[in-house]
Amino acid sequence: MTTLSDHATYAGGTHENGAPRQSDAHSLSLGANGPLLLHDVALVEKLARFDRERIPERSPHAKGSGAFGEFEVTEDVSAYTKAGFLQKGVKTPMMARFSTVAGELGSPDTWRDVRGFALKFYTEQGNFDMVGNNTPIFFLRDPMKFPDFIHSQKRTPDSGLRSGNMQWDFWTLVPESAHQVAYVMGPRGLPRSWREMNGYSSHTYMWVNEAGEKFWVVYHWLSEQGVHNMTNEEAAELAGSDSDYHRRDLFEAIERGDFPSWRLEVQVMPYDEAKDYRFNPFDLTKTWSKKDYPRIPVGRFTLYENPTNHFAEIEQAAFSPSNTVPGTGVSPDKMLLARVFSYPDAQRNRLGTNFNQLPVNAPRTRTNSYDKEGAMQFHHSGAAPVYSPNSYGRPYADEQSISDTGWEADGQMVRAAYTLHAEDDDFGQAHTLVREVYTEEERQELVKTVVGSLADVEEPVLSRVFWYWTQIDQEVGAAIEAAYRAGAEQRVPGNLSVDIDA
Ligand code: HEM
Repeated sequence: MTTLSDHATYAGGTHENGAPRQSDAHSLSLGANGPLLLHDVALVEKLARFDRERIPERSPHAKGSGAFGEFEVTEDVSAYTKAGFLQKGVKTPMMARFSTVAGELGSPDTWRDVRGFALKFYTEQGNFDMVGNNTPIFFLRDPMKFPDFIHSQKRTPDSGLRSGNMQWDFWTLVPESAHQVAYVMGPRGLPRSWREMNGYSSHTYMWVNEAGEKFWVVYHWLSEQGVHNMTNEEAAELAGSDSDYHRRDLFEAIERGDFPSWRLEVQVMPYDEAKDYRFNPFDLTKTWSKKDYPRIPVGRFTLYENPTNHFAEIEQAAFSPSNTVPGTGVSPDKMLLARVFSYPDAQRNRLGTNFNQLPVNAPRTRTNSYDKEGAMQFHHSGAAPVYSPNSYGRPYADEQSISDTGWEADGQMVRAAYTLHAEDDDFGQAHTLVREVYTEEERQELVKTVVGSLADVEEPVLSRVFWYWTQIDQEVGAAIEAAYRAGAEQRVPGNLSVDIDA
């Protein structure tokens, strides 16, 4: 009879100290049938490491995947930015991670949701990250509401179930959500694949040119595969039959050499025009009209390399809007300013204080700071001075100047909503999207999608949902209420992607 040892190769296995490991098959016992021994390093090490395999998942954007590639600038945008990696002809290695927002690590890729679109560029001036979504807007304009928003999209405290009632309760009590809700409930709430969706910075950022002139900029990453979406029925079927559908699609496309690419185009607003633009350009629930600020082409990135280890290179990847490089900066968007704090804070918790030393996160440039120690320090500065200033040649900076990516503030410390620009309100751009961008067929689908999500919604939330949609569009609101009343008996609770006709 042949045994496993006739087929398997044992040579080379080690303990964590590098010494040879005797067995992958049998634990050390006192006699063949006896009790186990605590000094069995092979077993103890194996179980102890297994017990610690999981790290906290991202909260939110837990489920996702990504790949590596290259960004190339094909146009001259030096009039707007001096950033080295944004100069014509420069190629920069980069990575992308795509994700859903509300679902947990094991959740289906095809639940209706916003998709994350996170990019990291390993530039010669340090890492630049653009942590965007596949939507040009967001649900909120003040970060104070963000944890409440995410709580309302995840699970109820008692049953641990997702809840349409909770989602709609929050959305309808916070009407600044209307534009993004109209987007997510529409055709682009179910991308056919990550390859076939656009990405947007959503926020306004800043660019600064060599002469010190400042511009406001919004990034649009346009899929060269085209934008394609699925129906509620397809998404619901895939959520059951292949919950990793989007992850698989990206990995397999790259495996077979079908490398996805995205074109970068930007909207650029001269610094002084922000004050009087008809919409507040820092309000994340608004887009800038492309008629007012046409898109300017910049370059493109292509993903051509899969991760060789998903955990090390994707799960441990840490993106943050705080990663800017000279020539780029943030803006007075309050959501963006809060994110600058929140991401590295989450990553210190999720990955540990030295998360930037992990190969996937480490800049390709040398870092040089007085930050030291903490769990898992790998890079260090040897015996060099650990304080600044010092007399022994380590850096000491003391620039006193107006920040070249700064802006003027306008008054007292207050807790207040943004001051309104001429056309600012909660529902106007949502109406334009539903009435002028969506086709009649897409509006009808949207009505079905919304009604399908109302199965567990109770009063007073239900009436508020009807009110909310009539504020967005009178006709669509009336159609939602009529379809709800007509289809009451057909509804199935608990799944945003359930269609009333399904
Ligand atoms: C105040 C508002 C927001 C806060 C406090 C916030 C916070 C967070 C946190 C803590 C994470 C997990 C980070 C990690 O563990 O690595 C995360 C992930 C993410 N967020 Fe936000 N977020 C906000 C708004 C937004 C907006 C507006 C966008 C898009 C425009 C966005 C896009 C993403 C993406 C794409 C990820 C996943 C990044 C990855 O792939 O690792 N978030 N967010």
